[in-house]
Amino acid sequence: MTDQAPAAALDGPDIPGKPTSASRTTLSHIMTHNDTNLLGTVHGGVIMKLVDDAAGAVAGRHSGGPAVTASMDEMAFLEPVRVGDLVHVKAQVNWTGRTSMEVGVRVLAERWNESAPATQVGSAYLVFAAVDADGKPRRVPPVVPETERDERRYQEAQIRRTHRLSRRRAIMALREKRAAEGFDA
Ligand SMILES: CC(C)(COP(=O)(O)OP(=O)(O)OC[C@H]1O[C@@H](n2cnc3c(N)ncnc32)[C@H](O)[C@@H]1OP(=O)(O)O)[C@@H](O)C(=O)NCCC(=O)NCCS
Repeated sequence: MTDQAPAAALDGPDIPGKPTSASRTTLSHIMTHNDTNLLGTVHGGVIMKLVDDAAGAVAGRHSGGPAVTASMDEMAFLEPVRVGDLVHVKAQVNWTGRTSMEVGVRVLAERWNESAPATQVGSAYLVFAAVDADGKPRRVPPVVPETERDERRYQEAQIRRTHRLSRRRAIMALREKRAAEGFDA
């Protein structure tokens, strides 16, 4: 994870931008008994798989080709999901770098036994890297926020990006320092 993608992947003319709505995606799924944990509610990993699937579809649509999950962070589970609930996983590109995209995901549940509107039960932010046939990062079109909400999400994603990079740099620096001091061999 670097500030800059490798030069070879960055050559060429500017890529035209794509609006957020061009790749926004919703996946919907009814939860079954196969999805439960020992408490009888839906296993967090089942929701994470749906989140990764929806975000991957968005990343593929936006970048126009294969994209791999580089990281998933701030996965929040706000309310339990139950068998019979109709879960909607809504994903959109929040921000784009040169070869990576942050995808924001909201998870909503329509309770099978209530007539209330869908409740938000989770959220997550994932970074996807667009890759070529050799698995090397390739450039992505810049995302063009269309609404004030898209613009806010873009700016918040930039903050998360800065924090991811600085946290990684700090950890790498600590590891190098400890290795130089003869620790962790
Ligand atoms: C993600 C991957 C392609 C990055 O390759 P790399 O050689 O490290 O390339 P780079 O360092 O240039 O990173 C490419 C982009 O991804 C971003 N990135 C890489 N690792 C990241 C991480 N852990 N978190 C957030 N962003 C990350 C970089 O910042 C860069 O973005 P930018 O071009 O927009 O600035 C590579 O690590 C990989 O293939 N990982 C496995 C992915 C996979 O298989 N996922 C499925 C789970 S099994």
